[in-house]
Amino acid sequence: FSLKNYNTFGIETKAKQFVAVHNLAELQAILKNHSSEKKFILGGGSNMLLTQDIDALVIHIDLKGKKIIKENDDFVWVESQAGEVWHEFVLWTIDQNFGGLENMSLIPGNVGTTPVQNIGAYGAEIKDSFVSCDTMNIETQEVKTFTKDECKFGYRESIFKQEVKDKYIITSVVFKLKKHSHIINIDYGDIKAELAKNNVTNPTIKDVSNAVIAIRNTKLPNPKELGNSGSFFKNPVISKELFEKVQAKFPEVKHFEVSPTEVKVPAGWLIENAGLKGYRNGDAGVHKNQALVLVNYGNATGQDILNLSKYVQKTIFDKYGIEIEAEVNVI
Ligand code: EPU
Repeated sequence: FSLKNYNTFGIETKAKQFVAVHNLAELQAILKNHSSEKKFILGGGSNMLLTQDIDALVIHIDLKGKKIIKENDDFVWVESQAGEVWHEFVLWTIDQNFGGLENMSLIPGNVGTTPVQNIGAYGAEIKDSFVSCDTMNIETQEVKTFTKDECKFGYRESIFKQEVKDKYIITSVVFKLKKHSHIINIDYGDIKAELAKNNVTNPTIKDVSNAVIAIRNTKLPNPKELGNSGSFFKNPVISKELFEKVQAKFPEVKHFEVSPTEVKVPAGWLIENAGLKGYRNGDAGVHKNQALVLVNYGNATGQDILNLSKYVQKTIFDKYGIEIEAEVNVI
């Protein structure tokens, strides 16, 4: 079974077996009936690089549905099943004027994978609106709810990438959103400039969403047109000491202080300044508008992309002494 249409990098790999599940009973039955087999859980396929065929039963989580589960005068609790497309879910919340997710418009992928790496963009992260997620234990099929605290969210991090990696399937997520008195967050990057361009003075959440969509469209390739997984690398957090060395050589280096002893440096800047923005080797490339994104021009294999990523990592290390870590899951 070809997985080319099930990963946003558009990598051609084969799965030994493939099944899509549409409700919890189906999921439970599949897990039970295949308990001794190797399994591979696939959501939106937006944060993975497939470098080989999958010698396992691929279970595609296609659970659909979204609804309001609770509300009071100020807040609303919405629940989305894991297989809903994230951006469509965000637009649905905005259409009802529920605030909180607008800065994360147009992030590729499905709702169920958003907690795994605590997705974020333009000054917001899902942990800011997240309440809990329901999961199914792959081995026992027991249902377990993880609260926000239990998820141990960090920058592109959660318990699902660490202690309980590959143990649970996220089946639904609950978010708490604002009904009115929205907190508009337009401090990041170009949002203000984008709003000004359109003469928006008193932005609504819809305006913010539209601005984010416009900015993303100028920098980030649409996976339907050019295979990619968003940021391929995390922005490295380095010691002040190392940062000062780098800054002495490259005074214009962009940076954000994250603690009194640590500095976050945009990997996109490091890569661009190393001359690799737009670099291409065969069908694997560094995106021409955002150097943090690796792209598949058509027929790159997972191995081609992986080799390119190693080349980028080595170049960055040789030039700055900084290690950059992949953000996507390499399989
Ligand atoms: N920059 C460059 N050259 C580049 C890219 C960036 O010099 O090619 C500089 C920019 O000028 C800016 C700074 O780096 O000063 C930050 O750039 P940007 O705002 O584009 O964001 P980023 O740090 O490159 C992060 C997230 C993105 C998210 C944006 C906006 C990570 C790994 N990536 O990228 O998330 O959309 O901020 O919030 O944290 C993703 O995770 O897949 C993703 C796209």
